[in-house]
Amino acid sequence: MSNNLLKGKRGIIFGALDENSIAWKVAEKAKEEGAIFTLTNAPVALRKGDIFRLGEKTGAEVISADVTQVDDLENLFQESMKILGGKIDFILHSVGMSPNVRKGLHYTELDYNYMMKTLDVSAISLHKVLQTAWNLDAINQWGSVVALSYIAAQRTYSSYSDMAQAKAMLESIARSFGYHYGNRRRVRVNTISQSPTVTTAGQGVKGFGAFYSYANCMSPLGNATSDDCAAYCISMFSDYTKMVTMQNLFHDGGYSSMGISDKLIDDCFVCTGDCDDKNPQNIEIKK
Ligand SMILES: NC(=O)c1ccc[n+]([C@@H]2O[C@H](COP(=O)([O-])OP(=O)(O)OC[C@H]3O[C@@H](n4cnc5c(N)ncnc54)[C@H](O)[C@@H]3O)[C@@H](O)[C@H]2O)c1
Repeated sequence: MSNNLLKGKRGIIFGALDENSIAWKVAEKAKEEGAIFTLTNAPVALRKGDIFRLGEKTGAEVISADVTQVDDLENLFQESMKILGGKIDFILHSVGMSPNVRKGLHYTELDYNYMMKTLDVSAISLHKVLQTAWNLDAINQWGSVVALSYIAAQRTYSSYSDMAQAKAMLESIARSFGYHYGNRRRVRVNTISQSPTVTTAGQGVKGFGAFYSYANCMSPLGNATSDDCAAYCISMFSDYTKMVTMQNLFHDGGYSSMGISDKLIDDCFVCTGDCDDKNPQNIEIKK
């Protein structure tokens, strides 16, 4: 069902790799809601080829850009404005990658060159996108920029590794640049902190199945799907949310406000007693 929420709006969507990507769903929904946009991804993702199918389906041109390369980003903005016939109204930053996670390195044994890459691709890239747009004055008044985050920015998830630092930085950049862009052009910048979602990036994290099931059991509404996330992104690109900026918005079925749930107590959590040595007074705990 379309409400034409993005009719007349022009966008750039980063990060559609395959049908499971959150960005893929956002592109489909943006098209449904009347937007025109370009799609972009790293050269290696373009070689995989799926993104061109999405381009055909949504009538969007695909432009190659490594999000860490400012020259690529300048070309992306200039080409997008030419193709779409004017300045940009919305941007989705749906990009993340950690070589430390990919190589399975333990958090206490991180490779620092890899860590710099993690931060560059997954966080500083948002600054590069915004600074490039700023220099080219490429975003219209009341434009909306959304980047995708995860709750590991605030809490420790043991195997999320240096992506936790990347997400904390990403959210901070959204606040800092959101101030400057808001002042200059009324452009708003937010992050959406999404539930665990079955995608290539998501499943690359060790123990993803446990992340997914635990969050699902904890959240009164269950995990938000990628389709749900796409719908939320569309609302953030629309004029109905035009006074929302510099926020990290939890989109997680209530997970971030939970401590423990009946579901976990009754059905899921079985204590094996392995942690009893961390209970120094040996208090008997009813199971
Ligand atoms: N899947 C989850 O559980 C989950 C949860 C919360 C947040 N997120 C975030 O959502 C965003 C999208 O991830 P996804 O889950 O859809 O997975 P995905 O693997 O489909 O998307 C990640 C994208 O990043 C792109 N990318 C990597 N390096 C790049 C570079 N140098 N230049 C340009 N693009 C590059 C990849 O090609 C890919 O398209 C990421 O920021 C991710 O951290 C995912």
